[in-house]
Amino acid sequence: MLDKHERNINYMRISLTDRCNLRCRYCMPETGVDNLSHYSILSLEEMAKLVRIASELGIQKIRLTGGEPLVRRNVPQLISYIAQIPGIDDIALTTNGTLFAALAEELKTAGLNRVNFSLDSLVPEKFKYITRRGDLSKVKEAIFEALELDMHPVKINMVVIRGFNDDEIIDFVELARKYPLHVRFIEFMPVGDLLFWKQDRMMPSQDIKAYIEESYALTPQKNILGNGPARYYSLEGGEGSLGFISPMSNHFCGECNRIRLTAEGGLRGCLYDKREVNLKTALKNGSSDEEIKELFIRAIKAKPSRHHMNNGWGEENKRKMYQIGG
Ligand code: 5AD
Ligand code: SF4
Repeated sequence: MLDKHERNINYMRISLTDRCNLRCRYCMPETGVDNLSHYSILSLEEMAKLVRIASELGIQKIRLTGGEPLVRRNVPQLISYIAQIPGIDDIALTTNGTLFAALAEELKTAGLNRVNFSLDSLVPEKFKYITRRGDLSKVKEAIFEALELDMHPVKINMVVIRGFNDDEIIDFVELARKYPLHVRFIEFMPVGDLLFWKQDRMMPSQDIKAYIEESYALTPQKNILGNGPARYYSLEGGEGSLGFISPMSNHFCGECNRIRLTAEGGLRGCLYDKREVNLKTALKNGSSDEEIKELFIRAIKAKPSRHHMNNGWGEENKRKMYQIGG
């Protein structure tokens, strides 16, 4: 389905929950997070139904996000529902990895094709600091389990925060050299818990890349590894690749192919646009598939041409990533 700006919308991200078992400093406050009640979020059956309807409008790719999607029970069951929907050819998961290892086989059997891990430090104490509670060994175990199960491409997302983890950039590059891992460096965005965001903590992709190129030869890669906006490079002698995600320095809205479903059933055209179409109410009111399709079309039509995140660091940026799905 094409939107008003001729973009082919074939990818839907679904936030399964706004809850998370970590409290990353840039994302959530330590305490006082008002979680949605179990009554206000979509059931997994409702989510599966919405995916089926969306697939009839041209959605082919699904990513499950959060919060942390794996804090919800029965995720493998949801995946197996979705995997059976004709027209869906790719199911991916974004996770912090802490609960992944134990579930990995079940997720794979259910039909999960691939997984992205969010990981900002390879030093146990620093990982604990940034997540306020995480155990790095669990995440490492999860990543190796995903490789073991051939869930390729296995990706690692590192939010680069100057003064916190920029000294680990080379250690992350080494992960992509030694293992078939695709490491993506993400520019730190002024969304979420703005107390932690500072302009000088944001390192532009260009600077990250220039720094890496002081020690490594990077070659632009043509085969695109997913549905997202990353630019990929292969690494001489490396098994994996490096990617750069530049929401700040080079907005990629022109190529945006996605819509987002929040845990509460809000359908959004853009992460930075508060407008949403309420599908939960439609489901509750017993709307027909055709009526729900109309709501999807409305959300796709309302998709803005681009975001204006860089224009101001004000109220507009206080988005709760954990509610909308990163
Ligand atoms: N800037 C950049 N990335 C962020 N994420 C969450 N908040 C921010 C931010 N302010 C990332 C997570 C994860 C993905 C879901 O979104 O670290 O990789
Ligand atoms: Fe949880 Fe991801 Fe937010 Fe960290 S960034 S607190 S892992 S939702």
